[in-house]
Amino acid sequence: MNRTHGLGLSLLLSTALATTALATPARPWMNRKLAPARRAELVVKAMTQDEKLTLVSGYFATAAAFQKDYVPPQGVRPNSAGYVPGVARLGIPPQWETDAGIGVATQRTATPRERTALPSGLATAATWDPKLAEASGAMIGAEARASGFNVLLAGGVNLARETRNGRNFEYGGEDPLLAGTMVGAQIKGIQSNRIISTVKHYALNDQETGRTTVSVKIAEDQARMSDLLAFEIAIEVGDPGSVMCSYNRVDGVYGCENDHLLNGVLKRDWGFKGYVMSDWGAVHSTADAANHGLDQQSAASFDAAPYFRDPLKAAIAAGTVPKARLDDMARRILWAMFAKGVVDHPVAEAPGGIDFAAHEAVSRADAEGGIVLLKNAGGVLPLAASARKIAIIGGHADIGVLSGGGSSQVYPRGGAALMTGPGVFPGPELYNPSSPMKALQARAPQAQIKYADGQDTEAAAKLAGESDVVFVFATQWSAEAFDPAFTLRQGQDALIAAMAKANPKTVVVLETGHAVAMPWLDQVAGVVEAWFPGAKGGEAIAAVLTGEVNPSGRLPVTFPKSEDQLPHRETARGAEVDYTEGAAAGYKWFDRTGAEPLFPFGHGLSYTRFDHAGLKAVGGDKLSVSFTVKNTGKVRGRDVAQVYVSPKSGGWEAPKRLVGFRKVDLAPGASTTVALTVDPRLLAVYDGGSWKIAGGAYEVMLGASSRDLPVRTTVTLKPRIWSARVADRGDLAKARQLPPP
Ligand code: BGC
Repeated sequence: MNRTHGLGLSLLLSTALATTALATPARPWMNRKLAPARRAELVVKAMTQDEKLTLVSGYFATAAAFQKDYVPPQGVRPNSAGYVPGVARLGIPPQWETDAGIGVATQRTATPRERTALPSGLATAATWDPKLAEASGAMIGAEARASGFNVLLAGGVNLARETRNGRNFEYGGEDPLLAGTMVGAQIKGIQSNRIISTVKHYALNDQETGRTTVSVKIAEDQARMSDLLAFEIAIEVGDPGSVMCSYNRVDGVYGCENDHLLNGVLKRDWGFKGYVMSDWGAVHSTADAANHGLDQQSAASFDAAPYFRDPLKAAIAAGTVPKARLDDMARRILWAMFAKGVVDHPVAEAPGGIDFAAHEAVSRADAEGGIVLLKNAGGVLPLAASARKIAIIGGHADIGVLSGGGSSQVYPRGGAALMTGPGVFPGPELYNPSSPMKALQARAPQAQIKYADGQDTEAAAKLAGESDVVFVFATQWSAEAFDPAFTLRQGQDALIAAMAKANPKTVVVLETGHAVAMPWLDQVAGVVEAWFPGAKGGEAIAAVLTGEVNPSGRLPVTFPKSEDQLPHRETARGAEVDYTEGAAAGYKWFDRTGAEPLFPFGHGLSYTRFDHAGLKAVGGDKLSVSFTVKNTGKVRGRDVAQVYVSPKSGGWEAPKRLVGFRKVDLAPGASTTVALTVDPRLLAVYDGGSWKIAGGAYEVMLGASSRDLPVRTTVTLKPRIWSARVADRGDLAKARQLPPP
């Protein structure tokens, strides 16, 4: 797709529709005591066909250079992603849609709305702390509402099965339990503001190369245990009002007209009651899209035709799309609007009143929780109070921290520290104005801190050689619409090696949206993965480097040694990508092939030590696990205890799966007991419509990463089979949480 920057602030004013909060005989659906489904039904009954058509077709809300003659309709929020007019006659407000997962974004313009950016989704996933994800979601949802939006296009949960995917930074990592739990928690937080969140991009949109055309091949059973399971869990945890279908094709069929994925898996099997909206430019038909499960065409000007306006009307008249289907589409949209509070709690155009200081604190806590200390040789960190001369090299660390690019771009308060990179979408490459150097200086007033930008390696090496400790900041921009390289760009590997040669006390701080190669790893003393750390990223990094914050992030993705270890030597460039690894994404692939990663999934160091003990597992019909975690070191810290299971007789896509985790905060010497019940799907194999647990012996393993699991026990599980269809399992509400025992 050809998205470029917007042309400037739209002068069109919003025309927020007055909604009547009170039920009247003419508007019985305004009775809040009625169930959302009933309310939606009543509105649909009162609607004309044209009104229904209004609800199912959206507009791009920005005048953009790549759409020369396009004028957004009245009522949009300027320079935002989308707009769906309401039905004023019936008190149904418009849907004002904005990106996305890290905050309230703005399409590129000279006058963006300035909002609080969270760290990247991958950083939030690295916290392994659903409460933090929920708080972060609540924060961005509050800013969305305060900015006049009632639909946040957040909730990216595509599995990071392709290490180099340019949007991994927006997602929740490579494991379905971790990604689904974290992204689901964020959605829950967003929707606590009585707005709708999506979950996206459904499904298997795991690379950006050729994203609008590539066809994904994966065996159905394997998809159900990997990418689809991440969506299923996120939907259960977060209960989003909407699902955004993806650009790519699956088995040759586009995501937004994929009967199997939309009608079969999502709506029938999982019982999803909300609506499916298309990604921007992802619709290719009228009858196929409508009949196969798409409920709303987003930003119709992105597609070859406004498929859900006149063409849909014509298709209904011709009988190729049943009238009842249009009712269903409208009903689903209205259900979400009622269920999530969009109708009862209308948004105002821009009420403002954002407590930026409080919101920045939320963003900072998220960043601090997600920074991963990968290597710390000889206790080079935390920074010694005795350090007098500190060198900071590269990465624009004197002024700010990098963010990921594309539609999710949030513009910071007071302007960016730097905007570079492409002049068109997915640019700019934006640095948030939170300087690691200044934040470090504030925490180490005794030290003389000098900065070299790294352009002149010799000068930087001289500075490094004269310093007590060296921090090299390495950045790798990633963004929507392309897949970045696995190796660091622009000679940064050579720069790091030169710094390490000049001073063995060199610590590398990475700002990346995915795993990168580290050919210099043995030569440096320390490595910190800070991801794209958001509005207060510089503060968060300095807090971790100095020990003010004890690092507690854990890798949500495997860091490979080389691309040779990956299932695919390079990002697929052809018309098809064949996920031959099936459900064995990430660490599962490494376990299956016996490859040794550079840093395993789940890895992350602390300034203290934790002991895991007392593992008890009770099997039978279900699996319950308990254990204790003790802080055996000298400082307070947060641990992420991880539980994996392996069937003794094999039969899974890989030797083991993550089945549970818990983040705990412990004072030195303190301990706590953790009890977990395992989601039975994580013990089962999906087989043609059913989940099946094979009876027999299973090893339960506890530890600090997928490759550090010293505490083990064995349980016996009873065989069990249950339908993957929620409707087959009786009580729908309960079944949506967990299959009944
Ligand atoms: C992205 C979506 C986004 C939409 C609206 C698309 O390019 O894939 O994630 O929500 O644009 O900006």
